[in-house]
Amino acid sequence: MQNPVLILFFTLLFLIFLHQSFAITTTYNVLNFGAKSDAKTDSAAAFFTAWSEACASTRPSLVYVPQGKFLLNNLQFKGPCNNKAITFRIDGTLVAPANNNAANWLAFEEVDGIFIHGGILDGQGAALWACKKSGKSCPSGATTLGISKSRNVEIIGLTSLNSQMFHIVINGCQNVKLQGVKVMASGDSPNTDGIHVQLSMGVTILSTKISTGDDCVSIGPGATNLWIENVMCGPGHGISIGSLGKDYEEAGVQNVTVKSVTFQNTQNGVRIKTWGRPSKGFVRGVLFQHATMTSVQNPIVIDQNYCPYNKNCPGQVSGVKFSDVTYQDIRGTSATEVAVKFDCSKNNPCKGIRLEDVNLTYKNRPAQASCSNAAGSSSGLIEPASCLN
Ligand SMILES: *[C@@H]1O[C@H](CO)[C@@H](O)[C@H](O)[C@H]1NC(C)=O
Ligand SMILES: *[C@@H]1O[C@H](CO)[C@@H](O)[C@H](O)[C@H]1NC(C)=O
Repeated sequence: MQNPVLILFFTLLFLIFLHQSFAITTTYNVLNFGAKSDAKTDSAAAFFTAWSEACASTRPSLVYVPQGKFLLNNLQFKGPCNNKAITFRIDGTLVAPANNNAANWLAFEEVDGIFIHGGILDGQGAALWACKKSGKSCPSGATTLGISKSRNVEIIGLTSLNSQMFHIVINGCQNVKLQGVKVMASGDSPNTDGIHVQLSMGVTILSTKISTGDDCVSIGPGATNLWIENVMCGPGHGISIGSLGKDYEEAGVQNVTVKSVTFQNTQNGVRIKTWGRPSKGFVRGVLFQHATMTSVQNPIVIDQNYCPYNKNCPGQVSGVKFSDVTYQDIRGTSATEVAVKFDCSKNNPCKGIRLEDVNLTYKNRPAQASCSNAAGSSSGLIEPASCLN
């Protein structure tokens, strides 16, 4: 290759290749699109434009939110995008409008490859909670962060405060990782579930702290390959699979691991809850491992008779079938006498429940266990003694 023109040509080709493969990230700072960090000017339009450009880019892109408080009306970040590496880096606080009528305050939909790093989301839920608690008729409220129909999602170091309704909802997604997330709302705030997962495969929740008025993590129909590890719950209602079986045609819950979780002053520890009505739903392959309970009202509970207001539950019989549910190394203190309660359905008894090394005490004495229609095995130290058939 002696020809200088050819050499120049190949050098240029090489440079273009370098540029593409090291894919220099383009930054879209929301301030450059008119966002105001004064906590009172609605910056939704600026955020939306920054997002639209990041999403349209064929190169990796960064939406950058600097320090300060940004008021945002409801906003939907919609894909599909032209690149699979959009970072949303938030150094500031996003503040929700006080009256919020949408289902979601912030929603990501149909995005493949999104990394949300840092940030505080302030849902401003207190006024709505007060309305709900007063017994007046109130709007249901908005989920703070809804991620739907998306894949390859990472949410790291995000804080969600005082959501009106659920804090984070993962719905219809694949491969989602949440790590170092904090959720905080008052212990008596209604319906403020921490993280809700449904119809999603491969969701991982690591090193997260959730204090709220409802479920710490709630697991809905169609959650499969879900991994929850090193999570602190309390106050709140604990980790709940369900309510399941509300509908007759319903996707099952399969392969769920809940590992190294602590519960402090929660209503429940690990719970599985199904409606007392016909359904094709199921729960298969669940492992609750290494849980520490401190003053938990119902540390281990299966309730197959859920039926609020006793309406539309013919015979109170749940159709949801259970198999292969294991409780391994669950210890600590119960705030009520019955620490283990398996209340299963006559028609679909719980089968294949395994207890290994359970030690739950009530007022420094062994607590009690109660079973109906529940079968399985136990090994190791089991206190209170197993009541499984
Ligand atoms: C169960 O889910 C985990 C992730 O939570 C995954 O690594 C594992 O392969 C799954 N097991 C099966 C049998 O699919
Ligand atoms: C069960 O836990 C209690 C309180 O943590 C402890 O005092 C007791 O020794 C444990 N029981 C056994 C048999 O290890």
